[in-house]
Amino acid sequence: MPLDLSVKLGPLELSSPLMTASGCSGYGKELDRYHDLSVYGALVGKSISRNPRLGNPYPRTAETAAGMINAIGLQNEGYEAFVKNTLPKMRSFGPKAIVNIVGHDFEEYVWLTERFDNEEGVAALELNLSCPNVAEGLQFSTEPGTCERLVAACRAKTRLPIIAKLSPNVADIAGIAKAAERGGADMVCAINTLVGMAINWRKREPLVANFTGGLSGPAIKPVALRCVWQAARAVKIPVIAIGGISNADDVLEFMVAGASAVQLGTILFVEPDAGQTIYNGIKQRLLDAGIQRISDLVGTLRA
Ligand SMILES: Cc1cc2nc3c(=O)[nH]c(=O)nc-3n(C[C@H](O)[C@H](O)[C@H](O)COP(=O)(O)O)c2cc1C
Repeated sequence: MPLDLSVKLGPLELSSPLMTASGCSGYGKELDRYHDLSVYGALVGKSISRNPRLGNPYPRTAETAAGMINAIGLQNEGYEAFVKNTLPKMRSFGPKAIVNIVGHDFEEYVWLTERFDNEEGVAALELNLSCPNVAEGLQFSTEPGTCERLVAACRAKTRLPIIAKLSPNVADIAGIAKAAERGGADMVCAINTLVGMAINWRKREPLVANFTGGLSGPAIKPVALRCVWQAARAVKIPVIAIGGISNADDVLEFMVAGASAVQLGTILFVEPDAGQTIYNGIKQRLLDAGIQRISDLVGTLRA
């Protein structure tokens, strides 16, 4: 029997559990030159806002032990240019195209949701809930009531599958995951970056101009595993794992912890062809372990 790497995420069926993580490989063309992208079930693009955003002042990234800090500030070309110039290309690579959206307030998220609902070839919408909520001075993913209302407001405007992307910078990620589920999310994904800092003490300067930034990479994998496990126990909808995934064993660990699929982020800056290597590695490990269907692994962590 051939190996079956397909996964079913509620209404979304993918040929592979691998996806790209938002912001770590553009919209597909950056990776296309390295290998055949069919190893990915879906490509998730960088966050799109209603209007173009220039992002934060430079420097915006710094390497840390086992990871990196970034404070890009959600730079993107904005809805109109994205739909005209980038989305058609993103759809052409083969994997499903998932659009990640971000807003300053409810109205911007809802506006974007309504627009993308009418776009051809969008497989799902991922809500980046970790952007500062300017209108209410909160983050959308730190307060369960706000998270539920925001997801519900978007839910009301689209039939596309909705993925709620959660922040790890919270006391109770299970509570936020449940709020997203109550709001009507079809999936949650975890985690976005952890707030961190890096300093050059000789210069008395922060390494990113924004002072603080998002920590990502292998350094955050144990935190991500814990968050995914807690979220998966709390909700009935599928959970997508992100955070420091760098090899095939990492992927399988997250699936055992309860993830139905995974996203590759920081590893793509180091090894742009990691999708191919990890895909091959997963197949080999499943063959070695006598496991035919990858989905059989999901949530099999023993007590
Ligand atoms: C440079 C950079 C830019 C990112 N931009 C976004 C973004 O625009 N939207 C978003 O939802 N997540 C963004 N992320 C977060 C990643 O999608 C991912 O959640 C996080 O990096 C953890 O995964 P990793 O450790 O595999 O990188 C960004 C991460 C990095 C490193």
